[in-house]
Amino acid sequence: MEQLLQQIEQYRQEIAAIVPDGAEALEAYRIRFLGTKGIVKNLFTEMKNVPADRKKEFGQVLNDFKLLAESRYEGWKSQLTTGDAETASTIDLSLPGDPLPLGTHHPITLVRDRIVHIFGRLGFSVAEGPEIEDDWHNFTALNLPENHPARDMQDTFYIHQHPDWLLRTHTSSVQARVMESQRPPIRIICPGRVYRNETISARAHCFFHQTEGLYIDENVSFADLKQTLYFFVQEMFGKDVKVRFRPSYFPFTEPSAEMDINCRICGGSGCSVCKHTGWVEILGSGMVHPKMLDNFGIDSNKYTGFAFGMGIERICQLKYRINDLRLYSQNDVRFLRQFTGAV
Ligand code: DAH
Repeated sequence: MEQLLQQIEQYRQEIAAIVPDGAEALEAYRIRFLGTKGIVKNLFTEMKNVPADRKKEFGQVLNDFKLLAESRYEGWKSQLTTGDAETASTIDLSLPGDPLPLGTHHPITLVRDRIVHIFGRLGFSVAEGPEIEDDWHNFTALNLPENHPARDMQDTFYIHQHPDWLLRTHTSSVQARVMESQRPPIRIICPGRVYRNETISARAHCFFHQTEGLYIDENVSFADLKQTLYFFVQEMFGKDVKVRFRPSYFPFTEPSAEMDINCRICGGSGCSVCKHTGWVEILGSGMVHPKMLDNFGIDSNKYTGFAFGMGIERICQLKYRINDLRLYSQNDVRFLRQFTGAV
């Protein structure tokens, strides 16, 4: 099928490059493209070898090509009969234009942009950091010193020449960088790609995308955290979304919580995505650990803050009901073409 499409494209180019000549050349053209044993006929006989699910697409391409070949012939012929050999070699304006295939945004991009937009309305601006990080920003500064058991869950890829460098395992490294260089009030969101040393399957990949959020100011409370995140999921999934917070542990927040929403795939009746619980975890969050603030010279007696981190693939999965993580990175246009509009 791909070969046939390529072949048709070549023929199109050949036709486009033709400089119309006398009656003999026109007849040769007719026999080659439109004759009973010509190219167009032959291509139609290939139809039977095209897989059933692509017949429609191929049929369309083929019909367009047939029209092109025919109209080229007609245009050429009428130029010859009006005897205008001069104009015969100029551009034929009666030809249909070549279609320009329009691309689409990747679903991850759509959802990322939507997240940035929602938090943008709450005053969060975008911060970025490097994907190749050092140990300090990815782990140690976040209260995850060497040999801390929480590092186990985030195995990654290390850079041989620089044992201290690694591919960041989360976007939390960006909050470390922001706290290093900015003073409160801080209100940022950090979308980006992260890496983990995991076996690739429908549920895990060696890279994925996260968005981090960080808000530090005077009097920031857990109530602010809850309301901000609740607002976010309502904007993303609709007003009917239900949330629940579960106590959790992250070394860089205290207290910490994970937030679940009611499963958007099965509506709560139980499926493999929510592991038959009706709830799906979408993010980790908590109040920034005072030690983190002190690590970066921010007065923890004066300032408090909250932080959160979410996987964009997961949000996208629930938004678009995507059941296999691998689809995101296989570049299959049949998958990608489904996401045409903004979320
Ligand atoms: N970095 C965590 C992870 O990748 C997610 C996370 C949890 C980010 C809590 C946070 C947070 O900022 O407060 O699993």
